[in-house]
Amino acid sequence: MPRKKHIKIAQVRTFSNVFDFSNINVESDLQKYFLKEQPLTIELGCGQADYSINLAINFPERNFIGIDRKPNRLWNASKNATTLNVSNVAFLIAYAEKLEEVFKNLKAEEIWITFPDPYPRNGSIKKRLTHPRFLQIYKSILTSNGKVNLKTDDDTLYEYTLKIISEENLKLVFATEDLYSASNLDYEKTIKTKYEKMHLENEKKIKLITFSFT
Ligand SMILES: C[S@@+](CC[C@H](N)C(=O)[O-])C[C@H]1O[C@@H](n2cnc3c(N)ncnc32)[C@H](O)[C@@H]1O
Repeated sequence: MPRKKHIKIAQVRTFSNVFDFSNINVESDLQKYFLKEQPLTIELGCGQADYSINLAINFPERNFIGIDRKPNRLWNASKNATTLNVSNVAFLIAYAEKLEEVFKNLKAEEIWITFPDPYPRNGSIKKRLTHPRFLQIYKSILTSNGKVNLKTDDDTLYEYTLKIISEENLKLVFATEDLYSASNLDYEKTIKTKYEKMHLENEKKIKLITFSFT
């Protein structure tokens, strides 16, 4: 492993806005961290957490948690939030598979899944973050009217997610295969992550799906 990455992995757990799912008190530590009890939004597979940080700046009346399984990616997220003095955002080192173990009392109103790995091969379908095994987890950590948003550049993941929403009888709130063809988009739909910027540079169309469980 490169030395720089190794240092980041060692350092990141010492940062005051970074939490680890394997800590037994992680949920209460997260609750204590936020200065105010406010509606919660989660960004899953956040990487450097561009979505969470920009939402946190623009919606100070809400709290945000950026979640990624890779601690070194959260190092950058944590440093950016600290530099920008954003206190209503925290970061959680966790696999999506483990979220039910963390969020027992704390519920989210919204989940953003931003440019997840598409896992195009049939043998990897279970790893897609909109596979039914993940939807069960999202349902359990959302409030009853909570929403899930998927942003992707990937046609296969977009079509697959629409199919799953239909098969599982979920409520499709919004879907577009070319987000920026529309005008007057809400600010929160237009935040551009590191990966989104790369896809736009490669002239890919950005897709967005919003769905709920009721
Ligand atoms: C392609 S990157 C996108 C990063 C960021 N959302 C962006 O748009 O710039 C996908 C991220 O999802 C994370 N990830 C993939 N599977 C995950 C899982 N099961 N649980 C948590 N994070 C996951 C990866 O570690 C990676 O940082």
